[in-house]
Amino acid sequence: MKRSILLPVVMCCLIFSVTSPAQNNLALTPPMGWNSWNHFAERIDDKTVRAQADAMVASGLRDAGYVYINIDDTWEGQRDASGFIHPNEKFPDMKTLADYVHGKGLKLGIYSSPAAKTCAGYEGSLGHEEQDAQIYAQWGIDYLKYDWCQSTGSLEEMKAAYTKMHEALKKTGRPIVLSLCEYGWNKVWEWGPSVGGNLWRTTGDISDQYRVMAEIGFNQNGLENFAGPGHWNDPDMLEVGNGGMNEDEYRTHMSLWAMLAAPLIAGNDLTKMTPYTVEMLTNREVIAVDRDPMGKQGFRVAQEGPFEVWMKPMADGSKVVGLFNRQRTIESMTVNFSQIGIKREAQVRDLWLKKDLGTFERSFSAYVPAHGVVLVKIKQK
Ligand code: GLA
Repeated sequence: MKRSILLPVVMCCLIFSVTSPAQNNLALTPPMGWNSWNHFAERIDDKTVRAQADAMVASGLRDAGYVYINIDDTWEGQRDASGFIHPNEKFPDMKTLADYVHGKGLKLGIYSSPAAKTCAGYEGSLGHEEQDAQIYAQWGIDYLKYDWCQSTGSLEEMKAAYTKMHEALKKTGRPIVLSLCEYGWNKVWEWGPSVGGNLWRTTGDISDQYRVMAEIGFNQNGLENFAGPGHWNDPDMLEVGNGGMNEDEYRTHMSLWAMLAAPLIAGNDLTKMTPYTVEMLTNREVIAVDRDPMGKQGFRVAQEGPFEVWMKPMADGSKVVGLFNRQRTIESMTVNFSQIGIKREAQVRDLWLKKDLGTFERSFSAYVPAHGVVLVKIKQK
């Protein structure tokens, strides 16, 4: 059965609003790396981080663009008499660890909160912002995820707290990417760049289930005006390779995040990847969609029930199109070229098959697996 997508969504999204430029000239493409939380949560320590860094290189992820090794919550120890924070016993020497990670051609990220306690109840940065920033810089930290979680306060207080850390980081003179995490509670996309954010979580926590991933990913539609070089919407870290979704579902996850120009922060155990997981995380053509220098976030152009057509404009004038099937059975889907601003004839390339499919007139159709995607690059002839 051929299903034509009949309901074009208003193409308002082609008008990209002007967002403030990045304040620190970092993250001109969406950050790529790995974070400890999704797979290891509290079970993260120095040895595990080193093993992940080794695997990042050995698996080819580094060479595909994944450079940040980010330690999430639970590294924090006590403050000394002068107020400087020390890591807990799981991390004997953060500077040596940073040197190790840097020696592999990678960068090191860390986590804190603008409250007395972090989300997991460890020591937060409240009242010690400058000292923490100084220590991070001394250790050689390159990325900070700053999680509102346990904080209370008004929107103005939230903005002030983020600005304070941004200023403290700036004062160190070390380039440190600032990742805001306030779950989209206060429309952070509207003010994230003004408080120095390079990226900001737009949602609650992801988990390794199709239902949760799909709800988060497809709900990003409408936020496309707020992303761009230096400041990105962050629908949370990847679950690819953690085992809770099948291959078609993970392909949807990866394709959707790439179309969203989302940070690609792997959240699996890099030391135990199947060849399939490596291939999925390192597909250069899909990564190139995410990192397109124009930095436009993709959006939905048509929807009919569980069938969604998304489009991402690319710097070379081509359009990347995702045909997403959210139902549990295979279905034929179609994108009409008029829905993506293409006239008559176009060349179509399948980015997962890495194969040119030929020249098509007026539309392109494909069978899309259950919970799956067909991701193509369409170029006007
Ligand atoms: C929150 C964040 C997660 C993780 C945990 C750590 O839940 O959303 O990504 O950082 O805190 O405690």
